[in-house]
Amino acid sequence: MKLIGRQPDVFCLNHGWRFIEQEYTVLPEGKTHEEVYGFSKGGAAKGPAGSGFDDRNWEIVNLPHDWVTGKSFDEKGSPNQGYKERGTAWYRLSFGLEPQDRDKQILLEFEGMSCDAQIYVNGTVLKRSFSGYNSFSVDMTDMANFGIVPNIIAIHINANAWEGWWYEGAGIYRNVWLVKKAPVHITEDGVFAKPVLLSSGENKWNLETEVQIANSFEKNQEFCVKTELLDQNGKCVAAAEQNAAVAGYGSVTVQLTLQNLKPRLWSPENPYCYEVRTILYNAGEIMDYLVQNTGFRSIRLDAATGFWLNGENIKIKGFCNHQDHAGIGVAVPYSIKEYRIRKLKELGANAFRCAHNPDPEILEICDKEGLMVMEENRTFSSAEDNLEEIKGIVRRARNHPCVILYSVFNEEPLQGTGKGRRMAGRLQAAVKSMDDTRPVIGALNGGYMEESGAVTILEATGINYNPARYDDFHRKFPNIPLIGSETASAFMVRGVYETEQEKHLIDNYDEACAPWGNTVREAWRYAVERPFVAGVFVWTGFDYRGEPTPFEWPSVATFFGTYDSCGFEKDACYFYKAFWRPEPMVHLVSPWSRCKTGDTVKVMIISNCDEVSLCVGEKEILRNQIDALHPVVIEVPYENKDLTAAGFLKDTETVYDIQRPQGSMRRLKLEASQQIFRAGGHEAAAVNVAIEDENGTVVDNDDILIHFAVENATILGVGNGDPNSHEPDVADYRRTFHGKAQAIVKPVGMQTVKITVSGDNTEPASIELPVVDTETIPYILPMQGQVLEELRIFHKLFSEKPNPVVSLKPNDMNSFESVGYGEAGQAELENQYQKFALYMAHFSVGEPSEGRYLYFENVLGHIWIYLDGEKIYERSHELSGMIAADIPNHIQGRHILSIVIENANREWPHAGITTPAVLNSYSDLSPIGIR
Ligand code: GAL
Repeated sequence: MKLIGRQPDVFCLNHGWRFIEQEYTVLPEGKTHEEVYGFSKGGAAKGPAGSGFDDRNWEIVNLPHDWVTGKSFDEKGSPNQGYKERGTAWYRLSFGLEPQDRDKQILLEFEGMSCDAQIYVNGTVLKRSFSGYNSFSVDMTDMANFGIVPNIIAIHINANAWEGWWYEGAGIYRNVWLVKKAPVHITEDGVFAKPVLLSSGENKWNLETEVQIANSFEKNQEFCVKTELLDQNGKCVAAAEQNAAVAGYGSVTVQLTLQNLKPRLWSPENPYCYEVRTILYNAGEIMDYLVQNTGFRSIRLDAATGFWLNGENIKIKGFCNHQDHAGIGVAVPYSIKEYRIRKLKELGANAFRCAHNPDPEILEICDKEGLMVMEENRTFSSAEDNLEEIKGIVRRARNHPCVILYSVFNEEPLQGTGKGRRMAGRLQAAVKSMDDTRPVIGALNGGYMEESGAVTILEATGINYNPARYDDFHRKFPNIPLIGSETASAFMVRGVYETEQEKHLIDNYDEACAPWGNTVREAWRYAVERPFVAGVFVWTGFDYRGEPTPFEWPSVATFFGTYDSCGFEKDACYFYKAFWRPEPMVHLVSPWSRCKTGDTVKVMIISNCDEVSLCVGEKEILRNQIDALHPVVIEVPYENKDLTAAGFLKDTETVYDIQRPQGSMRRLKLEASQQIFRAGGHEAAAVNVAIEDENGTVVDNDDILIHFAVENATILGVGNGDPNSHEPDVADYRRTFHGKAQAIVKPVGMQTVKITVSGDNTEPASIELPVVDTETIPYILPMQGQVLEELRIFHKLFSEKPNPVVSLKPNDMNSFESVGYGEAGQAELENQYQKFALYMAHFSVGEPSEGRYLYFENVLGHIWIYLDGEKIYERSHELSGMIAADIPNHIQGRHILSIVIENANREWPHAGITTPAVLNSYSDLSPIGIR
């Protein structure tokens, strides 16, 4: 996600993409000499990959977009991918660039698309991207069109294969940006500001900054580069500058050091971020600038004592997470990622593992929220493409203070072998070539006792599960730091207090886990009792789609989450609050409120106090010592009274938790994950609905179908956290699951968003969320119009007006030559007063329709335009200016367009067409739209 003010000339390209889930050929229709000759040229891709394709009947979508969410669950699908098919699809976007952009470098930045993609720009493939988890940019400078001629990005995505064994979604599921850069500019992710601790006692630091500058045009250029360190108030607290020069089409790296800094430190408790602003000047004028996060903190992994942050020995308390969320799949807006990360922080977590892929937005959020990140590479391979990919991951990650570890693989069959060792070594070296300040780790599920495997070449070892082997490992490799890179894999379904295997329901008493995993308590105990274990990354923070272990169909999502897929608490959350949060807490795990007289209720008390008591009504039925790892469990005969657990610290009652018998009333309670929306189109809110009784107790055994109605907003998706639900994601209704459901709502425009929820036997409830006007990154609106491709000019001029109907032999590719456009028309016509040029093109106009016209930005000379020999336009009274030649309404399909131009200007010797013509329609939008 790009933030406002961090670099010049950034535009968002998330709006108005055309989308279709359909295959097309990118080959010409036939195999004639003409078609094959014409196809095998730069800019000449066919079908939707080409510029002239008519996509007007495709769906219009905005990004982020995951096309899988709209599909139904299908038993024949892969359980791993959540029983939804993925498939293949095309996206197209047409947009304009201003004439004054001509000298700039034009970059398209893609944060991620799933998965195998070819990206065409104006008919030429400019990038093939193989990983759905890779962020990359495409330099389209050389292929750019300006003024009235649209630029067409056409993307083919094949998501049939798998890169992971979890739900991966499909489509352009992250943001796309257009960045216009000055000819001499800071390269993408080209600044590395490396904090170096000089003396911990005095908290003295240098900030060693390396700036990569590139020149994408031909002239040599001198410049001055300046780097500034800004505190959180935007005040510059240190600066340095240096003169340098870069050759035409060259690049240079400039090093600047800010010395003897005494900064505030970054930590999970106080995530103080600074910004580094790098500016390029020439003769006092700013050419380019880039602002990015930095932070000062020291990290150390010690094989005997674990993890040290800023000189303090702390445990890493982390969660692993996949990237999808209820209702919206992997197309997760930034603000929903913030919502999820804050939820993890509420549990006392201080770390996040992007498992098993990188995500640059998570890093931005974790910098601010104070979670330390293990950033993970997806593909375990030392092939050239993969080494480049991991370098890109590191370049995007290395300025974020939150990043503390790079993981080069997860559970790879080759991890314990010589091959695995070599590959891990190569990947580690690639990481180090970009950033040598964080340890490199692999997450192993075996092979970690092999001296000849990957463990002995990497700086640290992650063991997934099997905590009983921690001691063996440490004994064998006492000098290798160890982390529980994946722990637990415990199962629970929110709101369930009795396991029913046949219904795929698992209770919340922390009794079930994967055969290779541990319960929540066991997993943490292994780590907390061993100082040499640096910490844990629990599998997982949230339920995710796919991998419905321990079940299969009809289960479509996992049971591993500490929260469900909406971010609603399972009781597991309270174990982590007990383990990880400093404040005293007590929590009751029981279905008390929904029980009846005669029931015997299993009650578990979780607490980090010294002692707990349990009362039914006023009567104390239990008083026990307790600690976080050892909850108290008791069977209690139900009475229609309050059930109260109290936590005592040194004999003083400090905290309590009450469960009340269910009341008779039903009302809908709405709560949003944020109170306002900031303008800019990147925010969506989770609107959480709970059915409550008159006491505020969630009624979790009386589910109803609820409807969401929105004003000034759109519903991106709905969910309820039920891993067995087959209800649609993209809908305006959902059944509550144990009393709760959620809609992800995004504003449309600047009006206050109103969400009204209704359901049987309840009063409708509403919530209003205003949209606050803030300065935002502008959007580029799609531009309408099809470029007239392949206009050609006859190789000789005529002394008399030629017959526009020409018949060519199929192998004649040279009687007509390609047209070069320039402000003065065609060079052939220069100084050729009263001579005629003949142009020709195959012209596809699509379906018959009204109001179409062929638009020329400027034509010099007299002009006659013909379709299949029929004149459709003539201008023989003027010598220059734009032209709009109407296309007869009934015309459809492919035709021969011929144009005759006469150099008719005695005073000025030029004639011809200045830019490619565009087929437009009067009903379309203005050509260049920026909002
Ligand atoms: C691990 C794996 C995870 C997930 C987990 C489930 O083996 O790394 O991606 O599959 O098991 O327990």
